[in-house]
Amino acid sequence: MSQITVRGGKPLVGRVEVRGAKNLVTKAMVAALLGDAPSELRDVPHISDVEVVSKLLQLHGVKIEHSDDGTMSLDPTNVKSARMVDIDAHAGSSRIPILFCGPLLHQLGEAFIPDLGGCHIGDRPIDYHLEVLRNFGAVIDKQPNGIRLSAPDGLKGAKISLPYPSVGATEQVLLTSVRAEGLTELTGAAVEPEIMDLIAILQKMGAIISVDTDRVIRIEGVKTLGGYSHSALFDRNEAASWAAAALATHGDIFVGGARQQEMMTFLNVFRKVGGAFEIHDDGIRFYHPGGDLQPVVIETDVHPGFMTDWQQPLVVALTQAKGLSIVHETVYENRFGFTDALVQMGAQIQIYRECLGGNPCRFGQRNFNHSAVISGPTPLHGADIRVPDLRGGFSHMVAALAAEGISNVTNVQLISRGYEHFLAKLEALGADFTYTE
Ligand code: EPU
Repeated sequence: MSQITVRGGKPLVGRVEVRGAKNLVTKAMVAALLGDAPSELRDVPHISDVEVVSKLLQLHGVKIEHSDDGTMSLDPTNVKSARMVDIDAHAGSSRIPILFCGPLLHQLGEAFIPDLGGCHIGDRPIDYHLEVLRNFGAVIDKQPNGIRLSAPDGLKGAKISLPYPSVGATEQVLLTSVRAEGLTELTGAAVEPEIMDLIAILQKMGAIISVDTDRVIRIEGVKTLGGYSHSALFDRNEAASWAAAALATHGDIFVGGARQQEMMTFLNVFRKVGGAFEIHDDGIRFYHPGGDLQPVVIETDVHPGFMTDWQQPLVVALTQAKGLSIVHETVYENRFGFTDALVQMGAQIQIYRECLGGNPCRFGQRNFNHSAVISGPTPLHGADIRVPDLRGGFSHMVAALAAEGISNVTNVQLISRGYEHFLAKLEALGADFTYTE
């Protein structure tokens, strides 16, 4: 079990680079499975979620090379069925396998998807995914350790309406419809920048997809797709995480590769809290300009709202703002578990079942602890913490780095699911820590 001993209370200062977004790259890798020619994806980070998807693709006959500079080549010309036990053994820590369904049904006529892992944020069900696949004509057979899918009559375009603009379910529709026979119309689609980048990739492969107003996406199925050559969209979740780390530690971090366009909602909030930033051609400098930080009222939402993944690191910075901040989490019903450790470190955070601060959401009146009130500023002190999930874990590390005294943080390897070269970056920013394997 990996552990970090952090001696906190020092500002993080320096430069880190972010590469392709975890939440795009892994889907782009699955998209390569739909082609009949090799693809090349650039800026692919070395993170464990990428390794898991690589292993799963390799089990299905895709040849993959991933060089140190982040270029990945994927050759799907010999796609084959994989053994259930092998898929099961490799998929454990990821939710991406559910997106293999459409491509495997097109290529092989069948798919086996094991029970899904990923971070434990609420229930994270897959009902939308299964409904989408049924709409295309897939037959789903639930088995003890996963699901088996087949498409006896082939996959056909459909009219689909999502009850909530789910990122994964929208990707499911895209990856299945592009080679389904006929037209597909999706209403209630998610329109995150990572989805737009996936659409760009699919278009490069030969797909016909139009994104209309009001969350409507139309796809005209084609019989075959080729390969693609693409530089992945940068990881705006990682960029926002370092920005919050700069604010919480009174630091100054230049995030190479970050871009303004996809981060506008975050930048507005960052400025309202009292953080400063400078936009450069090659990245964004985030820093604490001195003076008091201000409390804010925010609500997480689907794009173009404030992303749920930005919430956890920002909450750490909000413990240092002067006054009461309110965060209403409307994407996941149970994403405040990480605040227990912050309270243990001296933060004052109260969690509520009610929808606080703005509009009622679908979690109101359902007993989900999904609103937080943070009262600051509170000095943080070191503590012993176990990393619970990816974003919560990063936040705990930031809190430990901001806190006076020593913190022992265990289960740190979880952070490498989504943050490339995490420890090397901390070192480059002048963090004082020791790592034990
Ligand atoms: N939902 C259902 N049924 C479904 C699918 C989703 O009820 O079949 C619900 C979820 O439980 C959740 C909401 O819909 O309450 C939104 O979930 P969504 O499908 O949008 O999330 P996802 O595709 O599973 C991706 C990212 C998450 C990110 C969300 C929201 C990946 C691999 N994961 O998850 O990223 O928080 O979109 O933007 O792309 C992370 O990076 O740490 C992370 C959790």
